[in-house]
Order: sequence, then C-alpha cells, then structure tokens
Amino acid sequence: MSYPQRCWAEIDLIALRNNLAWLRHRIGSGNQILTVVKADAYGHGLKQIAAFLMQSGTNIFGVANLNEARDIRAVGRGWPILMLGACLPDEMEYAIKDNVMPTISSPAEAKRFSKIAKKMKRNIRVHLKIDTGMGRLGCTPGQAGALVEAIKQLPNLSLNGIYTHYASAEDKVAFSKRQRMTFAKTLKSINHEFEFTHANNSAALLHEPKSIYNLARPGLLVYGVMPPGKRTPPELIRKHLQPALSWKCRVSFVKNIAKGTPLSYGQKYVSPKKMRVATLCAGYGDGYLASAHGQAKVIIGDKLCNILGRITMDQMLADVSRLPSIKIGDEAILIGHKHNHCITAHQVAQWAGTIPWETLAAISHRVPRLYRGTQAA
Ligand SMILES: Cc1ncc(COP(=O)(O)O)c(C=O)c1O
Repeated sequence: MSYPQRCWAEIDLIALRNNLAWLRHRIGSGNQILTVVKADAYGHGLKQIAAFLMQSGTNIFGVANLNEARDIRAVGRGWPILMLGACLPDEMEYAIKDNVMPTISSPAEAKRFSKIAKKMKRNIRVHLKIDTGMGRLGCTPGQAGALVEAIKQLPNLSLNGIYTHYASAEDKVAFSKRQRMTFAKTLKSINHEFEFTHANNSAALLHEPKSIYNLARPGLLVYGVMPPGKRTPPELIRKHLQPALSWKCRVSFVKNIAKGTPLSYGQKYVSPKKMRVATLCAGYGDGYLASAHGQAKVIIGDKLCNILGRITMDQMLADVSRLPSIKIGDEAILIGHKHNHCITAHQVAQWAGTIPWETLAAISHRVPRLYRGTQAA
C-alpha cells in the first residue's frame, strides 16, 4: 500500500516516445541514436526510462558512471552503453566486466585499459574523444592521429567510435562552426574505420545538422525540453517536442493573513495587504531550486500564483488571494500546464538563475515518479 502523494512527478511516456520519433526523423535514416540517461535520466527515473527507451528504439545509452550503467543492465541485457565521463583507474576492471564502453582521452588511459583487459582475457570497445573546444575530456586534435595508431597496436582494445562535444551550440555560431570544422579535419587526418562517429548533443542537433555523422547523442530534447540559447531552433521540432515531465504537489494548509505579516525564514517577505496564503508540500528537499524565491510561481486552480518568501526544505508558500475556494489537499503545479498557464523546466531555471538541465536533475529521490500514458516497463 502506498500513501497518498504529497509531491510527485508525472512522466508522460507517450510524449517521450514521440520526442524520440521526432529526433530519429531529424537524425535521418540509417543513423543511430545514443540517448543520454545520466543523472537519473535527467530526473525522469533511470530504470523506467531506460526500459521504455529500449522498447522505443534507442540504439545506445550514454551514462556518467558505472552505477548508471548497472541500472540499465538491470532492466535489459545487451544494450551498448558508452560512459561519457572518464573511467577512474580503479573502475576500469568493472567497466570491462560490465561491458561498458569507455571514453578514451590519452595514451596512458588506453594502455591501462588494454593491460587490464588482457589480464582478464576480455576485449573492450572504446570511443576516442577529441577536444575541439569543450575543454573537459579528450585529446587535442593534433594528438588524435598518433593516439589512434597507438590504440590500434594495443591488445584487447577495439577502437569502435570517435567523438567530440560542442560547448555552446545553442548560442555561438562561429565557435560551434570552428568546433565542427576542427572535428571534420581531424577525422580526415585519421586512418581508421570507426563504427560510430558522433558529435551532436541536443543543441547541435538543432543547430549543427552537418555534424550528425552516423550517431547523435541527445539528452535534453529526448525529454522534450529545448536547450535555451540565442540561436532559434527549427520551428518544426519546437512545435512537436513535448516535455515529458510535470511536477506537482498539494496544498497542506490555507490561511488569511493581515497586512504586515512576515512569511518564512528571514522575514524577507512581509505581506503588503490582507492576503490568503497556501502552504505547499514541496521545497528544496524535493529539489525545487531555493534560489528561485522572489520570482517563482506555481499553478493552482486556474491561476498562476506567486511563491512568497523563502523556499524551505519541505514547504513553500503561495499567494492564493485570488482563489477563495482553494482548500487543503488541492493540487499545485510546479512544472507543467493547466488552463492557459504553462511552467517549463526552463522557466524554473530562469527564476533560479540556472539552466533547465539543473532544474530536472535536482528533483530529488524523495519525489515519486509516476509513469503515465502507456504500459510502464
Ligand atoms: C558528452 C555528452 N554528450 C551529450 C550530452 C547530452 O547533452 P544535452 O542534454 O544537451 O543533449 C551530454 C550532456 O551533458 C554530454 O556530456
């Protein structure tokens, strides 16, 4: 028996499936899709999303660490998994055992993997990363040719893929073009047939279609959220992608307050008039970004209501003065739409001075994910 919900996220699996279908269309026939499911599938729940994506036509999964890879293996065997983060030396044995493809940035990493794989009598497929401007992982374009030749000589390693990562495809035209050209030039200088060549995250899928190669690596778009930025995304995709996640909580208390009443920690907010205030069952302990205070809004009934005062660990306060009939147990929408109102992950991020990836990844484990729309796997 489960308790009634106080604060929960609803995941629309039909929206997720449609998003994936639109992305497949964008990526083009014959090309493959690596779905990025790190950070609990961007807060959507890794195991359920991975199982669903297996049924919905993803080819490869992208993860940040081995625990995420193991969660994917727990719901379906055999799917290729690429670890997008670097593998630590003491993790390598486990990556080989669990058949997770690592990202290689240096000869030292390749040698270590080869040595361990040989000792374990296993072969491992690896992807080489080229740093064209992100500055996180990868060898320099100038090192790539020699590193490829070195990897080809190493026993028990198979050089399966090569990739790069855009740093600001949503914003910067010239910088992205430079990254794209650098990667293309690097590929030309390398003498190896890779099964997979890939570069495009969500923003690059929208703005740099020339670098789709034969695999794309979207995260945010799969979940129906547009990467915000200065470049305008193609109308068709924008129209058809749908956020899969909505986030709701319930009203736990309602009261009328007099003018001059301070609300929440620090008394930063003092009511300017007589008001009606609802206490909501959600706070930063659920992952709602506390820095959104002062700007945040929620949908209650048919109204967009201001959040008043500081957001606390488990609760926040909403102005329901225009909702005389609101009562304990009613629903408030933190992310989602109702009537004419819509609050997106991007909107919450803007209120908090951050990015939508963080809004989603921050939704904590305390928040149950409820899957809607089709048979959840
Ligand atoms: C290497 C790599 N590829 C692809 C992605 C997916 O990015 P996005 O969610 O912007 O599509 C990420 C996410 O951060 C990443 O680190």
